[in-house]
Amino acid sequence: MSKLPMLRGLILAIAITSPMCAFPQNSSPGDANFHLLPSHKPDRIILNLSENPLEEIGVNWRTDTTITVAHLEFAKATPGPEFRDQIQHLQALTETLVSQHDDEPVIHAKYHQVKLKGLEAGGKYVYRVGGGHSWSEWYQFTIPTDDKEVNFLYFGDVQNEVSSMFSRVIREAIINLPKMDFTVYAGDLINHESADFEWGGWFEAGQWIHASIPSMMTPGNHEFSKNPATLTPHWNTQFNLPANGPQGLEETTYEVNFPELKIISLDGEQIDESPSYRKAQMVWLRDILTNNPRKWTVVTFHYPVYATAPDRYHDKMIDFIRPILQEFNVDLAIQGHDHAYARGRAYEQDGKMDYKKGTVYVVSVAGPKMYEVKADDWMDRKAYGTQTYQWIQVKENILTFRTYTALGELYDSFEIQKNSDGENILINHIPNTPERL
Ligand SMILES: [Fe+2]
Repeated sequence: MSKLPMLRGLILAIAITSPMCAFPQNSSPGDANFHLLPSHKPDRIILNLSENPLEEIGVNWRTDTTITVAHLEFAKATPGPEFRDQIQHLQALTETLVSQHDDEPVIHAKYHQVKLKGLEAGGKYVYRVGGGHSWSEWYQFTIPTDDKEVNFLYFGDVQNEVSSMFSRVIREAIINLPKMDFTVYAGDLINHESADFEWGGWFEAGQWIHASIPSMMTPGNHEFSKNPATLTPHWNTQFNLPANGPQGLEETTYEVNFPELKIISLDGEQIDESPSYRKAQMVWLRDILTNNPRKWTVVTFHYPVYATAPDRYHDKMIDFIRPILQEFNVDLAIQGHDHAYARGRAYEQDGKMDYKKGTVYVVSVAGPKMYEVKADDWMDRKAYGTQTYQWIQVKENILTFRTYTALGELYDSFEIQKNSDGENILINHIPNTPERL
């Protein structure tokens, strides 16, 4: 008999006015994107990392507005169907999102979220979402063990033609690699921040993967409307990410802590656009990196510190973020935005650059939009026109980084070894294949 952890569900439901029609009046089953409209059946089901990923996990999903109260059932997974005799039942926090973009119809949807708490490290769980006669299938997920090893995927911008062109990349990663503990998206998940059908394409590309492996995402400029920079309401509504960063930057600036790995998301757009949010993030980042007890620290943000072409210089990241990464010896920065691949180090001291020390910076792109890459002193490896995925493993004193093309072929690899003084030694394992330029 399995012992089920005691969990507390979120039981807040936002008041509903009148239920809406299941689909907009100006949309019919013959429309190309009709299948992306909400229905009574849950869709866009996603797991998100919590700030304490060995004990908690976030779940989020969508229905149409006929579903005013939604539920999640979960249990410790069992070899057979007997888990259904040990189900815990939670009511979701429900909120409404009304969106409209260009010629898309006005879409009314309900988004539902639950934070599962009291989970056990190494535990395997099943869950389903819905209610009445409209339940999802049972999904299964695993909480990482407390053995100080973490494996995760990192994707650069997916952004364009996501359902059509990113799908093969994430699926190749899942087929080719060992089981990942989580996935990181480095911003620009879609192209138009509030285009609901684009978000539908993003969920379509990930499908059950998003519901089975938790992800964390940092927003890119394409998740914002302009003047002033305003995060799309889709973000906080459809994701269930940590809100442990500066006030006003909930679910965009936050930290996640594994036993020996701290992984941080910074809101790059607000670093670029807002002096007050930039300052708040700098203060917060310094604070959480001071007396940081974890062996490894990885940070993700959208605008890269070192660009992949000279005309793409990101001055705010150089001026304000690089000094903090250098001061606190952050091990790795995983970034997006430049639509090319580049990886290397560059440490600035008294106006001089040292390309043999400091944070390792990576830029990558997982979608099909490609920009030129120009050789630069900081780059150990680079690529043009190459959709990639990255596997990062943190285990004891070694961080191993591997970049694969969409074909599943190893394109770049290195290790960071931490010596007894806490200093990093980088060892390249670059495959003996030509650079794609
Ligand atoms: Fe971008």
